[in-house]
Amino acid sequence: MLEKFSNWKSKAEQENKIEEVKLENVPKHVAIIMDGNGRWAKKRGLPRIAGHREGMNVINKIVKKANSLGVEVLTLYAFSTENWKRPKNEVDFLMRLPERYLSVELPKLIEENVKVRLMGCKESLPAHTIGAVDNAIEKTKHNTGLILNFALNYGSRDEIVSAIQDIAKEVVAGNITPDQITDGVITEHLMTKELRDPDLLIRTSGEIRLSNFMLWQLAYTEFWFTDVLWPDFTEQHFLEAISVYQQRTRRYGGI
Ligand code: FPP
Repeated sequence: MLEKFSNWKSKAEQENKIEEVKLENVPKHVAIIMDGNGRWAKKRGLPRIAGHREGMNVINKIVKKANSLGVEVLTLYAFSTENWKRPKNEVDFLMRLPERYLSVELPKLIEENVKVRLMGCKESLPAHTIGAVDNAIEKTKHNTGLILNFALNYGSRDEIVSAIQDIAKEVVAGNITPDQITDGVITEHLMTKELRDPDLLIRTSGEIRLSNFMLWQLAYTEFWFTDVLWPDFTEQHFLEAISVYQQRTRRYGGI
C-alpha cells in the first residue's frame, strides 16, 4: 500500500524503520485525525460503535507518550460538524465517549499534569457531554504539561466564518479598519487562538484528506498518513510519525 503515498512521502520516509526519536526536535503541536474505527469494527463483524470504543482506548497511550516526549499540544479530532449525519445510535454513542473516557482517566490526567481543552461549537453538544468536558477543563486548568485539545463538534469552515463575522462586527463598531485585518488578527479570532499551529498532522486509515480540519492552522504543517486503522494505532506508530517529521526540512516557503 505504500506506493499510494508516493506523492506524499520520500522513498527514505517510506522505508523508514522507526529510527530513534530525537528529543530536541519533537513537534510541539501534534494534531490527529483518528480515522478507521468503523472499518476496524466491520473487519471483525462488530457494530461500528465497537470500533469507537476501541478507538477511545488508544487515546490514553498516545496522550501518555506525547506527554513523556514533551509534546506541548495534542489535538484530537473526535467529532466533526459533519458527523451529525451519522445514524442516531452512533452519534449518541460518540457523545457518551468523553464522559466514559474522562470518568476513568481524569484522575490520571490530573496526576500527569495534562490540561484538557475543547475546540468546537459547544452549543449543540448534549449537556452530559459538555458537562464532562467542562469538569475536566476546570479540574486541569492549572496543569502545565501537555494540552489535550479535543476537537468536538468542530468544523474548520464554521470556525473561519465565525472569525470573519466577529472581525466584521469590530470593523462596523469602528474598533479596527479593514486594512488592519492581518493574518495575526484572523488567528486571534480562531478557536486555537492561544495555541501554536500544529507542526505535525497524523491521519490514520489510509484516507488522504483534511475533512474540514484546521484548514487555516495547517498551512505549514507536516503531514503523515498511515494505512493503520485508529484502533490499531500504537505508541510505535506515533514514534514513527515523529521520526519521519524529524527527517523533514521545514522551509515555510523559503529555500
Ligand atoms: C472516524 O472513524 C472516527 C470518529 C468519527 C470518531 C473518533 C472518536 C474516537 C476515536 C474516540 C473519541 C474519544 C473521546 C474521549 C473524545 P470512522 O467512524 O469514520 O471510521 P470509518 O471511516 O472506518 O468508518
